[in-house]
Amino acid sequence: MRFSGKTVVITGAASGIGRAAVLLFAGEGATVYAADIDAAGGEALAQSSNGAIRFQHCEVTSTEAIRALMDRAAAETGGIDVVFNNAGAGGDPAAIDTIEPEGWDRTMDLLLRSVAFGIRHAVPHMIGRKGAAIVNTSSVAAVGPGYAPTAYAVAKAGVLHLTKCAATDLARHNIRVNAVQPGFIQTNIFTASMDMTAETKATAKAMLATMGEHAQPVARAGQAEDIARAVAFLASDDAAFVTGTTLLVDGGLTVGPRHSWDPEAPNMLGALRELADSQAPV
Ligand SMILES: NC(=O)c1ccc[n+]([C@@H]2O[C@H](COP(=O)([O-])OP(=O)(O)OC[C@H]3O[C@@H](n4cnc5c(N)ncnc54)[C@H](O)[C@@H]3O)[C@@H](O)[C@H]2O)c1
Repeated sequence: MRFSGKTVVITGAASGIGRAAVLLFAGEGATVYAADIDAAGGEALAQSSNGAIRFQHCEVTSTEAIRALMDRAAAETGGIDVVFNNAGAGGDPAAIDTIEPEGWDRTMDLLLRSVAFGIRHAVPHMIGRKGAAIVNTSSVAAVGPGYAPTAYAVAKAGVLHLTKCAATDLARHNIRVNAVQPGFIQTNIFTASMDMTAETKATAKAMLATMGEHAQPVARAGQAEDIARAVAFLASDDAAFVTGTTLLVDGGLTVGPRHSWDPEAPNMLGALRELADSQAPV
């Protein structure tokens, strides 16, 4: 019960990582403000609890909606202890040589500006709260190219830098700020924005689940709960000396080239060694 009596605000709360975090924080005693554009999913989540989870419709690209979310949480409970700025989607898929300004801006608004203003509008309600902490969702896409489209990757790298700057800005208020970088996690994000029938979505999800078991050194698919547990650690007093940093939770996806952990993967140096070993003695 690390969050007993605490007020926690989570965006992107109706699905995936946000939903798992809502359930974890509520399960550990928090009153959780679950914010999302998915009213049906958010309401269902709230109704599954005995008042510990409160849904707020919130479009995070609207700074006014974010302000209303934070103001409501503080007005009803007296302040905010933890904020998890997590809402997101795939962003514009275009490469840098074809992306249009609208797609670029939409992606930045959704994934980066929303985090900045999640912090901006929460902080007035967090000042003076013992153990106040903010966690922002970045991504393995911030490690380097190849994990996500360019605008998404740049926004998620921006979240890491914003996290560091916010940690310094907010040190004077004793508010810690950290990021979490999920790897390949089995959620709706990959199919949510795709124009697919329900049947094709189910096929795609099954395909991704199988791929997820072999995508990284840890030989199972990443789950939303894996990220929620990391977020809870960063938000808890166990991380009281941790600020301005990031926790990569990717099952080792980014740790090294595939051949370093997968004996089946093509390995240039291994192939050379085999060739050398197979030749007649020199
Ligand atoms: N799943 C992964 O592999 C992965 C990897 C790295 C980072 N992430 C990040 O994790 C976060 C959560 O994603 P997820 O995988 O749980 O996806 P998800 O699709 O399961 O959940 C995302 C939630 O955010 C909500 N949302 C989307 N746009 C919103 C908006 N404008 N305003 C408010 N809510 C909005 C959706 O309705 C949904 O409930 C995102 O920031 C995503 O970029 C996910």
